[in-house]
Amino acid sequence: MSIKSVGSKSFSRLENVLVIGNGGRENSLAWAIQKNKLVKKVYLIPGNAGSERIKKCKRIDIDINNKNALIENLYFLKIDLIVIGPEIPLANGLADFLRKKDFKVFGPGQDGAKLEYSKSWAKEFMQDAKIPTANFWKVNSLEDAKKIIHSSPYPLVVKADGLASGKGVFVPNSKDECLKAAESIFNGKFSKAGDLVVLEEKIQGPEVSVFALCDGEKYVILPAAQDHKRLNERDKGPNTGGMGAYSPAPLLTKDCLNNIIKKIIEPTINELIKKKIDYKGVIYFGLMITKSGPKVIEYNCRFGDPECQTIMPLMDQNFVFLLEKCSMGNLTGDEFIDPPQKVSGCVIAVSKGYPKEYKTGFPITIGKIETIDCQIFDSGTTLSKNGNLLTDGGRVLSIVCQDKDFDLVFEKIYKNLKKINFDGIYFRNDIGHQVRKNFSLEN
Ligand code: AMP
Ligand code: GLY
Repeated sequence: MSIKSVGSKSFSRLENVLVIGNGGRENSLAWAIQKNKLVKKVYLIPGNAGSERIKKCKRIDIDINNKNALIENLYFLKIDLIVIGPEIPLANGLADFLRKKDFKVFGPGQDGAKLEYSKSWAKEFMQDAKIPTANFWKVNSLEDAKKIIHSSPYPLVVKADGLASGKGVFVPNSKDECLKAAESIFNGKFSKAGDLVVLEEKIQGPEVSVFALCDGEKYVILPAAQDHKRLNERDKGPNTGGMGAYSPAPLLTKDCLNNIIKKIIEPTINELIKKKIDYKGVIYFGLMITKSGPKVIEYNCRFGDPECQTIMPLMDQNFVFLLEKCSMGNLTGDEFIDPPQKVSGCVIAVSKGYPKEYKTGFPITIGKIETIDCQIFDSGTTLSKNGNLLTDGGRVLSIVCQDKDFDLVFEKIYKNLKKINFDGIYFRNDIGHQVRKNFSLEN
């Protein structure tokens, strides 16, 4: 895939890029950024064991909350561009702080991150901008929640207002489950993040993730992806951070995307401008394509994980220029990403027990895997004292492949996954089932 009208030069120096975060998402961003010849070094704070396997990449061991040490190091390393991966530092205002110190930063300020860190604020934002989304109520006591749950004409979804590591959304199957979910949030399951609760009409339809890189005013859309949130095959089991993804999503036809641009993406950016929020970063639109059209399920102020790992291999070396242009408010509006020549898929290998309790520290063995159009992006790994790769998280690593069609992609992924092992390894075998012609859920 090529990224057009970006120009082959940076506006300024782009030798040293910093990526903040420690997951597979950040490793895939670093991997895509280092493809550019102007980039000499990509630093990751803190990164993980997999970061060191990526060309030009180096981890730095600094606590981002230690602002003085952080700034001192960034000046010393002559950092030209900073990309902030996860939502928590964005919600804590890290981008604002770094911009004040004159760094170019890809990532919204605290005001823009509110799209993700307050679900009720995001719902009101959508209401103000008349953006299609499920009907909702905002409640701050269990009593009020109960009244609405009992009187609601339709089934409801229950959401803690604040950040809850992807665990704050309950999709109950009955009023009873709905009440239990509201009770657990108000009883402090997510502490302050659950002081407010959003009750939302349960809507139906396939889900798709759309990412717009935004410079505060203009935007570029990346190829859409479909994530698989449930732990088990056939989309059963608990919600997870994401078990796999594929991109581009054929579900999003040109007409459908144009409709999304007109009804959702542009109104969102216009509303940000209206609210005087200078959003320089990615807006993640979690959408549901319902019978009555696309609706926003959620906004995030960051790239999706594992969507990012899936999309990055479809980007060419100009990708970092897009990030830089966004950080400087310099998109021309003419940049576009050609429809990809290849398609991409990603499967995540997780620890036994995830998303509940799991053990870490198991040795990971990686046999001979393909190197062309095949990447491993570590999500949760570490190195032992003698340099052995160990599991260090619920989601351990992702294997990502590209090819002419999705059947070839997933054949390659699952073939390579056989060569990766650790105690308790688990992954879904049906990732991409919607787009694999040679796969049926009866298999
Ligand atoms: P979130 O953490 O906001 O991404 O929500 C997790 C999942 O809950 C989504 O991917 C949807 O599958 C489901 N979900 C969230 N909101 C709704 C809704 N209003 N109706 C139906 N399902 C929903
Ligand atoms: N893949 C879902 C997320 O990043 O929230």
